Amino acid sequence: MYEFIRGPMIWISFLIFIMGLIYQAFKFFSVTRKKEWIVIRLPFNPDQPPPKKWFQRIADGFFSLRKRTVWRTHPTMIVITSIFHVCLFITPLFLLGHNILLDEAWGISLWSFSEAFSDGLTWVVLLCGAIFLFRRIFVRKVRVITTVYDYVILLITAAPFLTGMFAYRQWFDYQTVIFLHILAGEVMFITVPFTKLGHMLFFFFYRFFIGSEYSFSRGTRTW
Ligand code: HEM
Ligand code: HEM
Repeated sequence: MYEFIRGPMIWISFLIFIMGLIYQAFKFFSVTRKKEWIVIRLPFNPDQPPPKKWFQRIADGFFSLRKRTVWRTHPTMIVITSIFHVCLFITPLFLLGHNILLDEAWGISLWSFSEAFSDGLTWVVLLCGAIFLFRRIFVRKVRVITTVYDYVILLITAAPFLTGMFAYRQWFDYQTVIFLHILAGEVMFITVPFTKLGHMLFFFFYRFFIGSEYSFSRGTRTW
């Protein structure tokens, strides 16, 4: 069991992550269909501005969206969530420990940050995670829409960082901590496509393909 979790299960979980995202993308396109527009051509009016190009429409959508979402109501959350997500992706990708393992397994590796810098980024992720947690506990309007599921999602996201940080510092028994770290990483990979962590994909699908008050454009697909 121990060897399985530390070996083949890493690749199995990664495969589930990739295949799960591809499956969700297919499902999204199969349950939606192309929007049909009824175009009514009005008599030519020389004062009418020329129709906008697609990138102008997206830019317009983006700027008007700022007025309708947390961009306006809670700009600090936008800063925190942006920092959180950037660190969430770059820390494990450019982590020396991970790249050494990749090099040993496949002879490939990415460029790596210094260990101290990665450790700093790990703390940033954990700090932002703590802010999300306290917001859910103490801000009343967030608490009323929070269920146990939201806490579990936060835990799944923070666990690889928490256990990775413990391993780096050699806190507790290293073998146990690194085992828990690998397990936490695998749980994260497996759950992303099938839980609300799938927003990694659906954020872009909803904002670009489905027209709604939160989308960047008027959308090209409908349910
Ligand atoms: C599933 C396969 C994974 C393996 C085999 C693995 C392995 C490792 C190893 C060997 C270390 C170095 C520990 C040390 O310095 O002694 C480490 C650290 C770390 N891992 Fe992973 N890891 C995995 C998944 C993940 C995932 C999915 C994430 C986050 C999304 C993650 C985040 C981190 C972080 C942030 C650290 C360093 C923490 C610090 O320096 O403070 N790992 N990992
Ligand atoms: C490019 C991909 C992603 C995008 C565009 C994205 C976007 C977002 C957005 C817009 C929010 C809401 C922010 C807010 O409440 O202020 C959010 C929250 C969150 N995202 Fe992502 N996300 C992505 C990938 C991920 C991944 C891969 C994970 C973890 C594996 C993740 C974990 C979270 C968590 C834990 C929250 C906060 C939940 C809470 O409020 O309790 N995200 N994300």
